[in-house]
Amino acid sequence: MMDIAERIQQLKKEKNAVILAHYYARPEVQDVADYLGDSLGLSRKAAATDASLIVFCGVHFMAETAALISPDKKVLSPAPDAGCSLADSVAAAGLRKWKSEHPDGLVVSYVNTTAEVKAWTDYCCTSANVVDVVRSLPEGHDILFGPDRNLGAYVGKVTGRKMELWDGACVVHEEITSVMVNAALDRYPDADILIHPESRCSSDVALLGNSRVRFCSTAGMLKHAASSDRKIFVIATEVDTLHQLKKNFPDRVFVPVSGSAVCTQMKKVTLESVLDCLENETGEVVLEPEMRARAAVPVMKMIGSL
Ligand code: 13P
Ligand code: SF4
Repeated sequence: MMDIAERIQQLKKEKNAVILAHYYARPEVQDVADYLGDSLGLSRKAAATDASLIVFCGVHFMAETAALISPDKKVLSPAPDAGCSLADSVAAAGLRKWKSEHPDGLVVSYVNTTAEVKAWTDYCCTSANVVDVVRSLPEGHDILFGPDRNLGAYVGKVTGRKMELWDGACVVHEEITSVMVNAALDRYPDADILIHPESRCSSDVALLGNSRVRFCSTAGMLKHAASSDRKIFVIATEVDTLHQLKKNFPDRVFVPVSGSAVCTQMKKVTLESVLDCLENETGEVVLEPEMRARAAVPVMKMIGSL
């Protein structure tokens, strides 16, 4: 009798499907994925795959982003009700209002947004490329950065660009504070502290200037661990990122800055829901064509496909 993971592998072959998963997915879901990545890597992979069916193991905006840039593929979301506090914090109407008040203004949106919001976005970014995207913005325009005020404050400090910030936050990273990070710096004097820039502490200038602290996306954390001489790393992001770090670097020690940094929405994707998706092709992401075409533009520009 085949177990659930074996059945998933078999169906994947039969249906020419690919499973993409974010580093915050449950470890057992990460283990059946063909490709794991951060938001930027997953967008690139979705655009490049030859598979006709994409099963996207992440929250809904991620599956939607894959569907935006892959109109000829079927994108399935194993947990269509998996939301994100950032994506939920901004609606297209708010951006339309801002644009009407700032006719020459530019809207920069984090990828953690709905397709409708992306349709009103001039520049899209992820945590991996946010500094480059903001540095490349043309001068002489009002800029609205949203929806993550922590990421916006961080990138404003790093680049010196003045931007209006939308007042949204990730419920998981909002709990990661300077007090927590300073305690980790004291407790692990030989460790580097790797912090996701969605964290509340991301605009703390003392941390930004500390040589043992790095701000990076989830994929950036794996890259840093690969190139560093350190043996111990404190990880300030969602706890299941540690699954890949430990798997890839079994000779190093990874400690979560907080064991309660758990994205419950990401955990809605289970092996059972992945199997159901593959068996019954449930959870298809369907987008209104005109809105899809508009929303795809900033994402395609970001991944270099336009
Ligand atoms: P990255 O995938 O860019 O590391 O962002 C993490 C995150 O919170 C996604 O929802
Ligand atoms: Fe959204 Fe935060 Fe969960 Fe990422 S970790 S999906 S930003 S709620």
